[in-house]
Amino acid sequence: MKSSKRNILITGGAGFIGSHVVRLFVNKYPDYQIFNLDALTYAGNLENIKDIENAANYHFLKADITDADQMKALFRKYKFDSVIHLAAESHVDRSISNPKIFVETNVTGTLNLMEAALGIWKEDLQHKLFYHISTDEVYGTLGETGFFTETTSYAPNSPYSASKAASDHFVRAYGETYNLPYVISNCSNNYGPNQFPEKLIPLFINNIIENKALPVYGDGKYTRDWLYVLDHAKAIDLIFHKGNKKSTYNVGGFNEWQNIDLIKLLCEIMDKKLDKNEGESETLITFIKDRPGHDKRYAIDAGKINKELGWEPSVTFEEGLAKTIDWYLENSEWIKAVVSGSYQEYYKKQYT
Ligand code: NAD
Ligand code: DAU
Repeated sequence: MKSSKRNILITGGAGFIGSHVVRLFVNKYPDYQIFNLDALTYAGNLENIKDIENAANYHFLKADITDADQMKALFRKYKFDSVIHLAAESHVDRSISNPKIFVETNVTGTLNLMEAALGIWKEDLQHKLFYHISTDEVYGTLGETGFFTETTSYAPNSPYSASKAASDHFVRAYGETYNLPYVISNCSNNYGPNQFPEKLIPLFINNIIENKALPVYGDGKYTRDWLYVLDHAKAIDLIFHKGNKKSTYNVGGFNEWQNIDLIKLLCEIMDKKLDKNEGESETLITFIKDRPGHDKRYAIDAGKINKELGWEPSVTFEEGLAKTIDWYLENSEWIKAVVSGSYQEYYKKQYT
């Protein structure tokens, strides 16, 4: 994609990863008009992008991707020439207790966006792009060894990953059937500032601050590959501008951790930051009933994006974790705001 004047729709820009992507694009590309479309569900928070809300090239659209007519009207009105699609229901545990909304948002929502895009693009598909942001969870689970590559078969195990897998398939099918210019990337676990405290790292940071139990699923010997969110945003920037159309890219941190080891490291750092006695936070660790369908191990082979686009993670886990913890310690008001109301009900249902 050329760097010139563009009208870019970014969906889910009030969420965790989306807010970092929106900020990067608004600041780095003053010639681009950036439209952030978000329904502001429990996971969306305009505070996440407060610093850029008055930028001349930034526009917020409160809208719901499950509303097909609304999507068509917005595409007609603003004539977006490309889409970076992040809006989704993103939490595996919520998908286990309420799968339907994952189909509606992640599958139907994606379909609605592609229909709306084709509605205004079909006469001229040149310089258009539908960039679908997806997850490594579509590949299912790995054993002790091996990595997910772009050609690994899909084998999703949770309603969340099944909905993301279905949306990936639809995007590819729209490319083949209607010639939609698309690209997909499948990324590993992100962490960093502004992540909603339902996901492992922010949940455990918040619980340590509050002296609450740290609920470890099963034996804690599940492995995830962690990537600092800004490195994901930079990968998205590169893939958007230089990625090959009709292809997919795996993005990962080359950074595998068993949950229990990561949790112990987090406890150790938090003891120091909070002036606690050595080993104090670790006493909060509580092993609880396992997540159903829990994938044993994820690990990404990010060789393709490295070779084709020169991307690699720039933030070490040590640096990233320190930055993340500092952010949560310095932003207690943000945490207070997001853990009020419906969060309390969710927490009670999930953990008691
Ligand atoms: P998030 O839950 O923090 O944010 C999702 C955003 O989408 C929120 O702002 C929410 O308000 C918005 N949204 C939800 N339903 C909507 C709807 N119907 N219409 C419009 N907006 C809606 O999610 P995240 O962790 O930032 O993930 C963003 C994307 O990246 C998702 O597609 C997810 O599958 C993918 N992904 C996430 C990770 C991760 O580790 N978090 C890793 C790989 C891929
Ligand atoms: O791999 C990419 C995916 O990473 C994204 O597509 C998802 O949107 C994102 O939520 C994340 O999924 P995970 O299920 O891996 O993330 P989560 O933070 O929920 O859990 C990480 C690991 O920690 C997992 O093995 C489950 C475990 N866990 C999680 C929670 C919330 C616990 O042991 N206890 C908990 O309370």
